[in-house]
Amino acid sequence: MRGDRAVVAPSVIEARELRRALAGFPTGVTVVTACNAAGQIAGVTVNSFCSVSLAPPLLLWCLSKTAPSCGVFTDASHFAIHVLAADQQHLSKRFSSPSTDKFAGLEFDTGLGRAPIIGGAVATFECRHVQQHDGGDHLILIGEVERYNYSERHPLLFHAGDYDIPAKSR
Ligand SMILES: Cc1cc2nc3c(=O)[nH]c(=O)nc-3n(C[C@H](O)[C@H](O)[C@H](O)COP(=O)(O)O)c2cc1C
Repeated sequence: MRGDRAVVAPSVIEARELRRALAGFPTGVTVVTACNAAGQIAGVTVNSFCSVSLAPPLLLWCLSKTAPSCGVFTDASHFAIHVLAADQQHLSKRFSSPSTDKFAGLEFDTGLGRAPIIGGAVATFECRHVQQHDGGDHLILIGEVERYNYSERHPLLFHAGDYDIPAKSR
């Protein structure tokens, strides 16, 4: 159709163009946190989150193998997934910017496996880290939900490389 971009053979797929195509899929935004056995905490902004199964209750997300915090997440017994609210864009920016202390000045509680729990989210899922799979340049981490909470807050959205908030909450 007019305006459509050409589809090319897999061997010549270019990462930047593919990322533009994938960015057409709108998502929510989450911050995933964890604490390893040494007590090191980590948090990353993630939109590769999705539900997998209700029985047992499984969720997945994908983490870049080159992320500085990768080691903390692969070692941690648990992780906590926070679905960000429309007024939490600052948290998305904080946890997607490389920093030695992303939690500086931020109030948080301690959840299962000592994962940091940040308030004000649309939903928070505390998960036991039950499986990990290879996914090319990312790892696929699967968690079993052990505790969760949710609210009626409006979610923060991400689309075409930018933040958005639902029309009904504007
Ligand atoms: C909206 C948004 C979604 C993101 N989703 C992911 C993701 O699903 N997986 C991932 O590894 N990085 C994702 N990132 C990039 C990480 O948040 C970023 O690389 C972060 O700095 C990694 O944390 P670290 O430097 O502490 O390891 C995303 C960034 C943004 C802004």
